[in-house]
Amino acid sequence: MFSVRNQSLHCEEVDLTQLAQQFGTPLYVYSRNMIEQAYLEFANAGKEFNVLFCFGMKANSNLSVLSCLEQLGAGFDIVSGGELERVLRAGANPKKIVFSGVGKSAEEIAQGLAAGIKCFNVESEAELDRIQEVAQRLNKTAAISLRVNPNVDAGTHPYISTGLKENKFGVEYERALAVYAYAKTLPNLAIEGIDCHIGSQITEIAPFIAAMHKVVDLYDALGQQGIHLHHIDLGGGLGIDYNGETPPERAVFIDAVFTALETRGIDAYKNKTTGGKKVEIVFEFGRSLVGNAGVLLTKVEYLKKNGEKNFAVVDAAMNDLLRPTLYQAFHRIEPVTQLDCEEKIYDVVGPVCESGDWLGKARSLKIQQHSLLAIRSAGAYGIGMSSNYNTRNRAAEILVSGSSATLIRKRETFDHQLSLETDGLASLKKL
Ligand code: LLP
Repeated sequence: MFSVRNQSLHCEEVDLTQLAQQFGTPLYVYSRNMIEQAYLEFANAGKEFNVLFCFGMKANSNLSVLSCLEQLGAGFDIVSGGELERVLRAGANPKKIVFSGVGKSAEEIAQGLAAGIKCFNVESEAELDRIQEVAQRLNKTAAISLRVNPNVDAGTHPYISTGLKENKFGVEYERALAVYAYAKTLPNLAIEGIDCHIGSQITEIAPFIAAMHKVVDLYDALGQQGIHLHHIDLGGGLGIDYNGETPPERAVFIDAVFTALETRGIDAYKNKTTGGKKVEIVFEFGRSLVGNAGVLLTKVEYLKKNGEKNFAVVDAAMNDLLRPTLYQAFHRIEPVTQLDCEEKIYDVVGPVCESGDWLGKARSLKIQQHSLLAIRSAGAYGIGMSSNYNTRNRAAEILVSGSSATLIRKRETFDHQLSLETDGLASLKKL
């Protein structure tokens, strides 16, 4: 859906050069078709099954992106009260919302209960106690699932690997049965499921299947203790192609998981019975749905040379796209218009005053001052991780559909940034 036409990169049928002229840079641009296609690949592969695809909305929480997925029937995986607020405003059905995260506050729990969400994915006994307390106070029953840590190596960057013992996430595998037994004693909790999430940008099926087996072992053991679960949530984490990675196709992935589940006596079929135990399967994919559907457009401000090194100083920076410097993540960078000039090796860097402010290193590019560049695969964990560092305004966002484009988030202004601050020196007082 991103393709070069008449020598200029397009998103669907819209010329990115035109978008940059009209809306300025840095600019995030998303293809609605690509988001929808990704979702539908999952949904079609799972259509025989009782399965809910909850979008891991931390990947991209723009209201229009959320609505687009909501309209296709997606559920949502949230990790804060803010995300709950957003997704409800995008029209989400609370019964399709799971609430993950290791540090839910009492207010957030109350918010989830008031909305009537499907389930809290609980990560500790202390959290069980807090949910019990809040639910009792509000005279509600809270549906819960325990996030267990299957101790599986997802083979991904340590910052985005979450399923190992040393991570802060989930309940230790060996203690899970005891924690479930404890949850059962709490009167305002209803035990609904079990879940895991082993990490992000995983490009092999094997770690998912390994985690699934460990979760199903617990599911079986719980059944023997009289705790019968309604759903199994296998988390998100399916990777995308940033730089030639070859993650399994979505349909292949879903087939592999359901085939493996069937061998374990799990019957997730909608309209047929295998004699296995009837269970709903939940996934929480984020990146796979939106990552490759977005680009970040940026303009070359200056070309410069320090020693032997060429730098392209662009108008996007680490505050706009943090992934390169935070994870040494690779994003393809290409000129929007093909120029016939000398090809050189550049470090593509931003204007922020940090040596770590880079977007790409040693890239072979044919560019000039003012060239427009597209930083690819920026649809996931792009704008969401952006900040105002160096008092930079956050970028605008555009959604493209066919030959139409619309502004889905305005460019921030300095007034927006400063509106919460006061010059407080005059009013300092003792508390
Ligand atoms: N479920 C849970 C409980 C999660 O913690 C996450 C992501 C997801 C689902 C969605 O994972 P996905 O399908 O998108 O891999 N900022 C990092 C990624 C952090 C992921 C955090 N958890 C990055 O830019 O690579």
